[in-house]
Amino acid sequence: MIRTVILLLFSVIITTASAQWEPNYDEAKVPQFKLPNPLKTFSGKKIRNVKNWEKKRRPELLDYFAENIYGKIPDKLKISGYDILEESENALGGKAIRKQVELTFEKNSRTLHFTILIYLPKSNEKVPVFLGYNFLGNHTVCEDANILISTAWVANNPSLGIVNHQLTEQSRGVRTDRWAIREMLAAGFGFATIYYGEIDPDKNDMTDGVQSLFYIDDQLQPADDEWGSIAAWAWGLSRALDYFEGDDDVDESKVVVFGHSRLGKTALWAGASDQRFAGVISNDSGCGGAALFKREFGETIWRINRSFPYWFCDNFKNFNHDEKKLIVDQHELIALIAPRPVYVASAEEDQWADPKGEFLAAYYAGPVYKLYGIEGIPEDVQPPVNKPILNTVAYHIRSGGHDVTAFDWKQYINWAQIYIQ
Ligand code: GCU
Repeated sequence: MIRTVILLLFSVIITTASAQWEPNYDEAKVPQFKLPNPLKTFSGKKIRNVKNWEKKRRPELLDYFAENIYGKIPDKLKISGYDILEESENALGGKAIRKQVELTFEKNSRTLHFTILIYLPKSNEKVPVFLGYNFLGNHTVCEDANILISTAWVANNPSLGIVNHQLTEQSRGVRTDRWAIREMLAAGFGFATIYYGEIDPDKNDMTDGVQSLFYIDDQLQPADDEWGSIAAWAWGLSRALDYFEGDDDVDESKVVVFGHSRLGKTALWAGASDQRFAGVISNDSGCGGAALFKREFGETIWRINRSFPYWFCDNFKNFNHDEKKLIVDQHELIALIAPRPVYVASAEEDQWADPKGEFLAAYYAGPVYKLYGIEGIPEDVQPPVNKPILNTVAYHIRSGGHDVTAFDWKQYINWAQIYIQ
């Protein structure tokens, strides 16, 4: 009898506890929360003009995001040199110029290399460019047999021929449908991509990426307020932009940074922390990207820190199960991009990324855009599925799941033709 009661008690406790840790997908269970006002400083002063936004509020917000969420970069690290590994005036059936450029970085007797694959439409002028990381190597974005295969670490995926953490010929072109390269070129845009694992392999080891170039003595990981992988990846995008500044074929003032999912989080942080990016596209970026933390819908801070403890800085763990303690939210990350164009996109079936939270963050960035006289998202109601809002702050929710589709790229290209080109 006593045994049965004890067993029963145990199972009640376990069921209640596990229910608590289940992700919430029920709108009725979203906690009550108050979003911080992007136009009020941490000490409570109202921001009424662009000057005070840029001088006072923007810097304090940027510092807060760096110190508590993504992590600070310890110091500057410039390109030590670059090599054009390969180049062609007649790529993609004669339609494009192709370049593969390897950048090298050196510090404390350590070296890092990464390679940018670039396609440009043939033009007498410098062209605007979409820049985005890929998940599985440059050679996966297109069938082009000339794309070099990265030798960097990659998670095993035998169905794509990835064993022993090395990429092979077998995965050439497997992600072609995620990149509308020919459509970009036809619209007058170039396209540049980098395998993100060359900057920092996507695994819980802080000794194998760019962070390690800054380590002193036997240091094995960054300080609590220093960069996790997302900030390291964002750093790489900025270095690609440094390279573009010296490339006569690219218009460095018109580089739009794009990213999907974890790389969408990266694109937002890159755009917020480096104002040289002309525009930002966040595709299904979810928690730590466009989605509001305080809704605790789908993926939450605790959950993302548990699965990916190395993506953010260690200080971010102070907010596990305590989103109330955060004095910012992701609408302010988007506001840091103002007045530059930003596009937030969601997918209907991607509830893990909280489409509504992504939409609301874009909406609530609006007051900062308004300060610049720019219209954001006009109302706080999500538009119908597959009906984009193409303002300077743009948004769509498309049908389907967590992915990048032809529909997504069609909107991004149309939008960039209006606001970037
Ligand atoms: C996981 C993670 C997300 C992330 C996604 C991805 O699902 O929980 O935060 O966006 O991976 O990058 O594909």
